[in-house]
Amino acid sequence: MINFFEDNTMNYNNLDFNNKTILITGGAGFIGSNLAFYFQKNFSNSRIVIFDCFRSDSVFSNGNLQSFGHYKNLIGFKGEIICGNIANLNNLSLLSKYKFDYIFHQAAISDTRVYDQTLIMETNINSFYNLLNIAKKDNAAMIYASSAATYGSMPSPQTEGHESPENPYGFSKLTMDQIASKYSRENPKMIVVGLRYFNVYGPREYFKAKTASMVIQLGHQILSGKAPRLFKGSDNILRDFIYIDDVIQANIKACVPKKNGVYNVGTGVPRSFQDIADILQKEFGTNFKTKYFLNPYDGYQMHTQADISSSINNLDFQPQISLEKGISAYIPEIKRLYGSENIWSILKIKNQNY
Ligand SMILES: NC(=O)c1ccc[n+]([C@@H]2O[C@H](COP(=O)([O-])OP(=O)(O)OC[C@H]3O[C@@H](n4cnc5c(N)ncnc54)[C@H](O)[C@@H]3O)[C@@H](O)[C@H]2O)c1
Repeated sequence: MINFFEDNTMNYNNLDFNNKTILITGGAGFIGSNLAFYFQKNFSNSRIVIFDCFRSDSVFSNGNLQSFGHYKNLIGFKGEIICGNIANLNNLSLLSKYKFDYIFHQAAISDTRVYDQTLIMETNINSFYNLLNIAKKDNAAMIYASSAATYGSMPSPQTEGHESPENPYGFSKLTMDQIASKYSRENPKMIVVGLRYFNVYGPREYFKAKTASMVIQLGHQILSGKAPRLFKGSDNILRDFIYIDDVIQANIKACVPKKNGVYNVGTGVPRSFQDIADILQKEFGTNFKTKYFLNPYDGYQMHTQADISSSINNLDFQPQISLEKGISAYIPEIKRLYGSENIWSILKIKNQNY
């Protein structure tokens, strides 16, 4: 039984979500399921509705599954679950019987290495118009997931307003930001906030498999007695890694923004992949020599660092958790998963039937 939420009894502001109806799209995925349990734990009288297509056997041309939602992320969840595709209007009509107070829109094709542009744009963009219309009808606050992928290789620190996406996924998220901005101008009374997550890690990311963070992937590599494998020059590949609890904080604070907009959600502190391997080894008490191999990817982000000044000013966002603290909090779950669901063994299975 997963129990890392025992400590997650934080109220990040004075908002009371009891007696509120909350829609979480993508609620069977990593961030969505963490949000769902946050509300369940802290606001036991909230009505939580998850809308997610869950995973099927369908795979993209890159071999990855088309969606990562997994029932195991929701074991213990007591709210309502609707299985549906956000890109399908008939499926979305299942939501018409509710009147939502808050919508946390996390569902998306979240795999940055998918190049089927039609499918990405249909799923990530078209559905957003329809979800915004639901928010407008219900007078609900719309908090949606954007991404640091909107920045592509823009120099650090990445700042809102200076984007240059380098893949269809990043483009789709930037388009969502532009739709949100227009929608919010046309509907000034609505709350519409986009959150540009940087590299999120933590419990319930496991079923993202190859697209899960390097924290769990390296963690299981080391636990299986192997040296951590990293791209050559990994001490110079820096990313802004953010722990899931800080992402939850951003979502809660986004419900009462000083003004609508899109905001970076990172720590503001870039760290290397080598740092992750070193911290994990320290936690596990191992001392493997890192093995390096050539980075096969073009368009690889080499340095990300969120400029969080606007998030601090407009959302009162205050990231609390350093990479050391986040990995340390995550270690028991990494070990538990290694015992029951070793990521390296499942990655070797071609049809990822886990
Ligand atoms: N995790 C990160 O580091 C990160 C970084 C930047 C942005 N984001 C964004 O945050 C959001 C949540 O990401 P995550 O890490 O939890 O990913 P995830 O893949 O675990 O969650 C996405 C969820 O959406 C569901 N979904 C996918 N397509 C759907 C569809 N057509 N209809 C209904 N449900 C669908 C999936 O089943 C999954 O449960 C996504 O929008 C993602 O693009 C995540």
